[in-house]
Amino acid sequence: MKGIILSGGTATRLFPLTATTSKQLLPIYDRQMIFYPLNMLIKAGVKNILMIVAPEHSGQYLNLLGSIFKKFGINIYFEVQKVPRGLADAFILGESFIGKSDVTMLLGDNIFEDDISKAIRNFKSGGMIFAKEVSDPERFGIVEFDAKGKALSIEEKPVKPKSNFCVTGAYIYDNRVIEIAKNMQPSERGEIEITDINNAFLQMDELAVKKIEGEWLDAGTFDSLLEAGNIVKNKELYKNFDPIIDAAIAEFNAELKILAKKRLS
Ligand code: G1P
Repeated sequence: MKGIILSGGTATRLFPLTATTSKQLLPIYDRQMIFYPLNMLIKAGVKNILMIVAPEHSGQYLNLLGSIFKKFGINIYFEVQKVPRGLADAFILGESFIGKSDVTMLLGDNIFEDDISKAIRNFKSGGMIFAKEVSDPERFGIVEFDAKGKALSIEEKPVKPKSNFCVTGAYIYDNRVIEIAKNMQPSERGEIEITDINNAFLQMDELAVKKIEGEWLDAGTFDSLLEAGNIVKNKELYKNFDPIIDAAIAEFNAELKILAKKRLS
């Protein structure tokens, strides 16, 4: 299993915060948002992770993540996405990185209380996505279920949603996802849609849709960014990190302190 974290995009709703850094490098309580998707992959035992980043933030990602996981046997790779072309573009940009493997793609700004790392670890074939009930289904990809709870269709930002269950930013696919993505046409908003990939696996009857428990946050506005930090603090979600992440951050902090001391002396 390989991992991809998508951290491109301009996050205009968070200007001016995102005028100087990437949304996914903004703080959620005591660490950058990006450590949340990294945690899911590292907990799942994924050793090779591709970060897809915007050109203006690539240096910041390299500074933070370029070397901290190396001694734990986890390799972080970087790909610069010059123009955001939709979530499914990750599988085209990442084709040579993915090689013949299966792949988990996570959105860099999604925070899950539920632990989906077991699903990543135990994945067999087809596609697997994670649904969460929301109050504003018009904003998301929405799953329609039959009476037995089997997924029937997925619609991207429907005007008349067929349910309140939205597709969250975690996607697991077998290697066929690359060819499926390469053969897709852009939607009306000019993007290659992850929803079309999900529907392709659904039509082959090979898409599993799991409903998740607990909080699911995407920190897209000032209020939800603040709320995400508060939830993480109050529910102590920062205690759910893999020991590798905590150790890597502790070492990074120690190095920074030594450098700061040198600068002061
Ligand atoms: C994207 C997907 C959508 C999904 C959402 C989750 O929406 O297209 O299906 O529900 O992420 O955050 P976007 O952020 O591109 O509007």
